[in-house]
Amino acid sequence: MTKLILGQTLSFTGNPFTDGPDAAHHERRGAVVIDGGKITAVGPADQIKSAHPNAEVTDMDDHLLMAGFIDAHVHYPQTAIIASWGKRLIDWLNTYTFPEERRFADPEYAAKIANAYCDFALSNGTTTAASFCTIHPESVDAYFQAAADRNMRMVGGKTCMNRNAIDGLHDTTQSAYDDSKALIDRWHGTGRATYAITPRFSPTSTDDQLAALGGLWSERPTCLMQTHLSEQTEEIAWVRELFPNARDYLDTYEQHGLVREGAIMGHSIHLTDREIATMRDHGVTIAHCPTSNTFIGSGLCDVTGLNAAGVTTGLATDTGGGSSFSMLHTMAAAYEVAQLRGDALHASHLLYLATVSSAKTLGLSDKIGNLEAGKEADLIALNLASTAPIELSSARATDIWESIFPTIMMGDDRAISGVWIAGQRQTLT
Ligand code: GUN
Ligand code: ZN
Repeated sequence: MTKLILGQTLSFTGNPFTDGPDAAHHERRGAVVIDGGKITAVGPADQIKSAHPNAEVTDMDDHLLMAGFIDAHVHYPQTAIIASWGKRLIDWLNTYTFPEERRFADPEYAAKIANAYCDFALSNGTTTAASFCTIHPESVDAYFQAAADRNMRMVGGKTCMNRNAIDGLHDTTQSAYDDSKALIDRWHGTGRATYAITPRFSPTSTDDQLAALGGLWSERPTCLMQTHLSEQTEEIAWVRELFPNARDYLDTYEQHGLVREGAIMGHSIHLTDREIATMRDHGVTIAHCPTSNTFIGSGLCDVTGLNAAGVTTGLATDTGGGSSFSMLHTMAAAYEVAQLRGDALHASHLLYLATVSSAKTLGLSDKIGNLEAGKEADLIALNLASTAPIELSSARATDIWESIFPTIMMGDDRAISGVWIAGQRQTLT
């Protein structure tokens, strides 16, 4: 049955970073038509209603209908240790993260956290995420099963690490290859799942393991590849010690066939000119993680510079290194980080990063990320007056960007008034 959702609508018509902040279409009283799980039209409500007199109508009043948020880099197994106090990256991994990840050998625990994570994501308006799992294949099964139970389009993969973690949390070169391959064959392209080959980061893989995963990627070339790059200065110094023959951090991946289109690099804060040029030339993308980069004290990523250099950049919470499941909160952090660099991102830049650009980052922009005909109907409704202070501030707005900005800066899950996955409205927890 054809469905119509009525409200304000927002669709991107271009890239605000290159085409200017108004590269979008806003309809004050608009409608979205959904058929067979896809968006078939977006336009003025009056026209759309008369063209579809028998459709089932959901009226969201003046709430803003837009594409669901896409979180380009998360660690679902870190859901229960989010906001753990005060360490630099490597201490934080050893103290909180690795002991928690070891618990995912238990499939029941993995399923409990995977389900909780998917519910948190949906209630924050995140309809797609790309997650690292743990070294345990069971953690990947739990994740994709929780996603399949909600019909969510999700990206994920078994985290591979054969050194420098803690006892009980290492795989081997062979088991990483074998387990990843079996998981790809089980999940990649099953329903809405996309598999990402996932070496955690160079410090926890030997050259041998990175080479095996590069080889696997050439055997299964439609997968994605996700990892971390140049997050903290101490980490970069450690990589230099561990890989004396590499030109730079990126080269530790490049030497093993892991630098090409479909590669997604988390963080990527402290890059050299060579690394940026290589990433641009090879179509490698970046997941910008501003709440994590401030929480763990990693640094201020130059999103505007990366966009100007032609490197596609998505937005990511990086939970639990990041301090929030909310992409609204993450957009606010992206704004504040850019301000500290002397650069004021416009609301359209922030919303673009969280939707279209994250979809491009994950190679999924033909399917999701924009409110337009032909895309899968993963969309959200935002209440732009979800709290009294936001309502007061947005009442002064003279255009859609001013009316959404208080929600970006101060909004949370209370602003998410509706979530649709492949056209089905979700019950939010
Ligand atoms: N680098 C390697 N692993 C991790 C992780 O789990 N979180 C963050 N923020 N950085 C990492
Ligand atoms: Zn990460």
